Amino acid sequence: MKVIVIIPAAGLGTRMASKAGIQGKDKKTQPSKQFTELAGTPILIHTLRRFAAVGAVSEIWIALRDNEISGFRTRLETEARDVLEKKVELVVGGEHRQQSVQSALNALRAAAGDIVLVHDAVRPFVTSEIIQEVIEGAKKYGAAIAGLPAVDTVKQVERTAEGALIKSTIPRVGIVLAQTPQGFRYHVLKKAFDEAAADGYVGTDESSLVERSGHAVAVVMGSPQNIKITAPADMQLAEFYLKTSH
Ligand code: C5P
Repeated sequence: MKVIVIIPAAGLGTRMASKAGIQGKDKKTQPSKQFTELAGTPILIHTLRRFAAVGAVSEIWIALRDNEISGFRTRLETEARDVLEKKVELVVGGEHRQQSVQSALNALRAAAGDIVLVHDAVRPFVTSEIIQEVIEGAKKYGAAIAGLPAVDTVKQVERTAEGALIKSTIPRVGIVLAQTPQGFRYHVLKKAFDEAAADGYVGTDESSLVERSGHAVAVVMGSPQNIKITAPADMQLAEFYLKTSH
């Protein structure tokens, strides 16, 4: 049984760029958030190292923007030979995260019972323990994700021109915030993606596709440090975590 990792890393990271005051077409010339450097190394390479360090992982498929593929291959060869000890494949991503994952899923070869893990390129602080627990959960249940219980009170709102109005309070005991990795038996994930494509459904994570295909998804404990670097302010936290995580 193989464990195959898919890293969607084809986002433009416009939330990072716009907060930095970069406007219009200049946005496109900024590095995407997964290439922003943390201690001189792109976030994506930090993330890849976390998976390369897990013995059970056999292949890593990375979805990138077309114009970033050859430069990134060179960077891996010169700066991250440790990552290349695994089989690493680079594919062209799509317009949405889901299409980026789809293009890796289309390109890879797997048996029905193999495990596929999907992980955001911009979550470089995932631990070996979380990765291993998601693998174990996916083996046992067919589908498992890392998640974090909500500590804040959660409100359902209606957006207004000025902001938002609260519609209701959702008891937080029933709330989990979804992180990645999200892990699945290959046949479970493939069926969910095929059904979503047939229905034109676009989700913000893989679990939502698997849920709608009728398969139960287990949750294993994620970590507050497993942050998704999204806005410029997240970089300060990331630099702090980097210093304290070694
Ligand atoms: O922008 P978002 O929060 O959806 O990004 C989550 C992950 O999905 C990031 O690692 C990003 O690079 C990736 N992504 C992608 N292809 C897209 C959009 C996002 O691979 N078209």
